[in-house]
Parts: sequence; C-alpha cells; structure tokens
Amino acid sequence: MNTHPQATLQIKDKKYDFPIYNGTEGPDVIDISALYKETGHFTYDPGFLSTASCESSITYIDGDAGILRYRGYNIDELAEKCDFLSVCHLLLYGELPNEEQSEWFNRTITLHTMVHEQLQFMLRGFPRRSHPMAVMVGASASLSAFYHDSLDINDPDQRELAAFRMIAKMPTLAAMCYKYSIGQPFIYPNNELSFSENFLHMMFATPCEKYKVSPTMAQAMDKLLILHADHEQNASTSTVRLAGSSGANPFACIGAGIASLWGPAHGGANEAVILMLREIGHKSRIPEFIARAKDKDDPFRLMGFGHRVYKNYDPRAKVLRETCNQVLDELGIRDEPLLEIAMELERIALEDEYFVQRKLYPNVDFYSGIIYRAMGIPTKMFTVLFAIARTAGWVAQWKEMIEDPKQKIGRPRQLYNGATERHLGSKKKMRKSA
Ligand code: SDX
Repeated sequence: MNTHPQATLQIKDKKYDFPIYNGTEGPDVIDISALYKETGHFTYDPGFLSTASCESSITYIDGDAGILRYRGYNIDELAEKCDFLSVCHLLLYGELPNEEQSEWFNRTITLHTMVHEQLQFMLRGFPRRSHPMAVMVGASASLSAFYHDSLDINDPDQRELAAFRMIAKMPTLAAMCYKYSIGQPFIYPNNELSFSENFLHMMFATPCEKYKVSPTMAQAMDKLLILHADHEQNASTSTVRLAGSSGANPFACIGAGIASLWGPAHGGANEAVILMLREIGHKSRIPEFIARAKDKDDPFRLMGFGHRVYKNYDPRAKVLRETCNQVLDELGIRDEPLLEIAMELERIALEDEYFVQRKLYPNVDFYSGIIYRAMGIPTKMFTVLFAIARTAGWVAQWKEMIEDPKQKIGRPRQLYNGATERHLGSKKKMRKSA
C-alpha cells in the first residue's frame, strides 16, 4: 500500500503512478527512479533545471524569495553573528558549536593547517605565472598522495579526519600558490592566529618583519568565507558528489570540485566581474555593455548577474554590498572607480526590461571581487578564496552523501541521436598489417 500521494503519467493509453515526497521546506519531488523500468523511457533535463539529485538537510535556498539558510539559520544572521569555523561546524555536524566544542574544533583545525613539506616541490614544478586555480586543482587532489590515513571512505573517523584536513589546508595551499607566483618565500601557518587572520598572515607576511593582520580585514574575510561556504547542489558541489559516488577519495573529489568552480559561469565569475568592470572603464560606457549583454549574437554576458536558482536579489550579494562600503570606508578608500561602475551598472540593469523580465539580479560574485581588491587580494586569487570557503560545504555534502544509506554511484543516461548500426567496408583493410 503506497502511503505517498501519487503523480500519474500517461504514455499513449497506459497510466503510470509515481510517489511524491515532501521535505521540510521547498518543492515536493516526484520519485521517478522506477520510470525506465516501468515505461522504457528516460527523463530528459539538460542542466538539471527540474531535477533533485539527492536528499539533503544542509542548505536550503528559496530562489523566488531570495532565501539562503545553512541548517535553518539565515545567511545574513550567520554572517553577522558567527565566525567561519563555527559555520564549518554547523555545516558538518548540523549545530553551531557550544564553547567547549568550539575550542575543540578550532584547535583541531589549527593543528591540521600545515601541509607535508614535500608538497612545496610539487608547487615548484609549476610555472610561476600559472593561474592559481590550476595549481589548486592539482595540489588539493595530490593531498591523497600524502595522507593515507584518511582515505578509507568507509571509516567514519577517516572521513572526519579528511574533512578537517581539507578545511584546514586549503588556506595554506592557497597562500603558497600566491607566494610562489610573486617569488616570495612561503609563510608557515601560525597557531596563535584565528582561521582568517592566519590566512591573511600567510598571504601578506614576510620572514623579514612582524606582520600584524588588520582585525577589520580578518573580520571581512571571515564574513566572505561564511557567505561562500555552501549553496545546495550547485555545479561544483554536484561534481564533488558525483566523484564521491564512485568511492573516489575525498581529496580527489575536492580537486574535481575546484575544477568545476573555476568556470566563469560559476565561481570564476568573481574574477570575470573585475575584468568586466575594468573593460567598461567608465560609467559612460555602461549602456554599450548592457546592449552587448542583450545581444544574442554576442557571447558577452553581464558577469555577476543572473542565477539558476535566485530569481530575486541573491541574499549574499545584499550582505556583500554593505560589507563593500564598510571595508572601503575602514580602508579610507573613498573613490573606488570599479565600485562606482558596479553600482551604476546594477542600477541601470535593474531598470532594464531585459533583466527585469528574466529576473537577472546581482549574485554573490558581483561585489565580492571589489572587496577582495580593496583587501589587496590579486584578481587571479579571487576564485581560490571561493574554493577555500566552499571546501566547508563540499566536505559536508560529501560526508552526507557517503553516510546516506540510499547512496548509489551516479550514472545518468542520455537521448542518443548518433549513427545507427553500420559495418566497416570489406573493400580495403582498415589497419595496415604490421
Ligand atoms: C555562482 O548554482 C549556484 O548556486 C552557483 C553559486 C554558488 O554559490 O555555488 O551561486 C555561485 O556560480 C553564481 C553565478 C555566477 N555566474 C555569473 O555571474 C555568470 C553570469 N551569469 C550567467 O552566466 C547565468 O546567469 C548563470 C550561468 C549564472 C545561470 O544561467 P542559467 O540558469 O542557465 O540561465 P540561462 O543561461 O538559461 O539564462 C536565462 C536567460 C537567457 O536569455 P534567453 O535565452 O531567455 O533570451 O537570461 C539570460 C540568458 O541569455 N542571461 C543573461 C545573463 N544570465 C542569464 N543575459 C545577460 N547577462 C547575464 N549574466
């Protein structure tokens, strides 16, 4: 007896029923896992616009209302009142840490921030002008060559240890990429510093003198990391889940996630926004670029605008817009020309029928780059910072998937429209005899 409400599909004169499940929030789902067996048909949903790939209790997004919640807490509240490591604990374990848990978790992460000394020689094999994301893809996956005691995905302790290592080591690897690119010596982690202070210290300190991290910058960095930490089943998280579904080790899965995040349609957009604002160069040229963004024959898109899920203002962009002004004020940067262009671009776009009709609003990448720039982060490092933050979400989602008793290897099907059966001509030998 099926207790779930049913969705009925009719194909020709035959009807098929499929169960409908409802979650705690958001759209109900139709379980079509038996569709092929019962009807001989596949569903067809390129880009997965209407497909739920899994069940999850980590992050909830309501795109129409512009809502983003980690484990039920609204993103603006978390960004305002928490620090990044507390949010990592929340994503991993479902609850914010109490004082004792916070002490344990922070100390645990701190003690994993160093990377194996041998790793630097892998980095040194790259040209110094390499894009840091190219290095990060390799470096994160290569952690599996060093940390053999956290590769067994069936051992919950090893899964947890791998999660700690990835959260802890991403900033170290990122700072090493940056130092290597500018020919400066690597700076080791400093266990006296908080997560964000430590990252900024590794990025900007030198062995030659004491470097004090600005509390304002550390606080802004922590907020940026929280805002970027997780986002439901986005492209890179889905990549991590799919890679993990085959039983691949967690470090390799994160490497796959970094590769997907690099794309300009995804995490690479924050770097692309700055390049776009620089190309626009002056407010007077904005109409020319708006016209290009609307021109179907022009591949140009307004970077930092639009979203698959948000058909309203991205709640993270709202927080970043305010943070932008705060950081620039605190740094005494009065006239950041790129911010002026960005705000004028947003004003014009949000009045333009093309953007209004398609519900194209600024997303998380629209303002983040301006803040990073003000903090002295080079443009090529912007997506690396996104990866540092999203590692928390990736490991939480990967852990949830591995622990899901219903988890199976992900293996989508296709609509085949290639050649039908044909045979090699008998006339001439296809392979020259040796
Ligand atoms: C992130 O998924 C996530 O959650 C991602 C993310 C996360 O935290 O993980 O939120 C992070 O990736 C944010 C998005 C960053 N990317 C960009 O800013 C790049 C610019 N944006 C677009 O490329 C686009 O908006 C996407 C990729 C973000 C979403 O694309 P969709 O959902 O596939 O939408 P679409 O391409 O079908 O666009 C719908 C219409 C099209 O026009 P029509 O065919 O209806 O005439 O809107 C147009 C598009 O041409 N459109 C844009 C546009 N984005 C969509 N036109 C101009 N400029 C844009 N930015």
